[in-house]
Amino acid sequence: MTVGVLVASAQNARALWYLARASGLVAMVLLTVTVVLGIVSTVGWASARWPRFASQALHRNLSLLCLALIAIHVATIVADGYVPIGVLDAVVPFRTPYRRFWVGLGAGAFDLLVAVLVTSALRRHIGHRAWRAVHWLAYACWPITLAHGLGSGTDTRLGPVQLLYVVCAGMVAVAVAWRLVAAGTAAKRTPRPSALPGRHSRTGVRTP
Ligand code: HEM
Repeated sequence: MTVGVLVASAQNARALWYLARASGLVAMVLLTVTVVLGIVSTVGWASARWPRFASQALHRNLSLLCLALIAIHVATIVADGYVPIGVLDAVVPFRTPYRRFWVGLGAGAFDLLVAVLVTSALRRHIGHRAWRAVHWLAYACWPITLAHGLGSGTDTRLGPVQLLYVVCAGMVAVAVAWRLVAAGTAAKRTPRPSALPGRHSRTGVRTP
């Protein structure tokens, strides 16, 4: 009987550990796709088959799914009890003695992500400027999460997992480059105030 209980609890612990690792990796993929879709909708890309609101809706829903996966990731790591990580360690960066730096990055990324999601939910109340300022944190959240996964993950040494990280990094790099090019093009197209008809130039002379 006692042996049976021990075997069952060992299997449970193993299942929790697998779940913690799998949910972390799936959350990483979801976060990547969420960031890419956010950029796609900001750039304003759309086609006849893929309207802009589709990118926006998917971006929003995937971010919530990502949060659910992170909740599972954290809950299973805390419940596993194999390493000294408590609930507070999930929200206070660099508190746990276990792989302090790398796990601390995970806690930092989690805080940033929650800030981004909460301000998005309150967007109407806090105004577009404040929302946008906080939303920029999403860009910081992604590389911090990548470093967390690479540094603390058991599976980092596995080839397929390394490939997954490379694909995620490639997707975000292409999307960010696209965003920068689009921002540069938009800046070139927008005429300076002094060049606008009927506006005063810096010299004080009203332009025709
Ligand atoms: C933005 C939120 C987070 C994401 C996307 C994320 C993602 C990941 C990923 C991808 C891994 C590597 C999994 C593997 O190699 O098997 C990992 C590992 C790990 N994460 Fe997170 N994580 C996040 C937040 C957290 C938080 C807040 C904690 C603190 C409780 C945490 C604790 C850990 C631990 C202890 C590991 C090592 C697990 C192992 O033994 O492989 N993570 N995480």
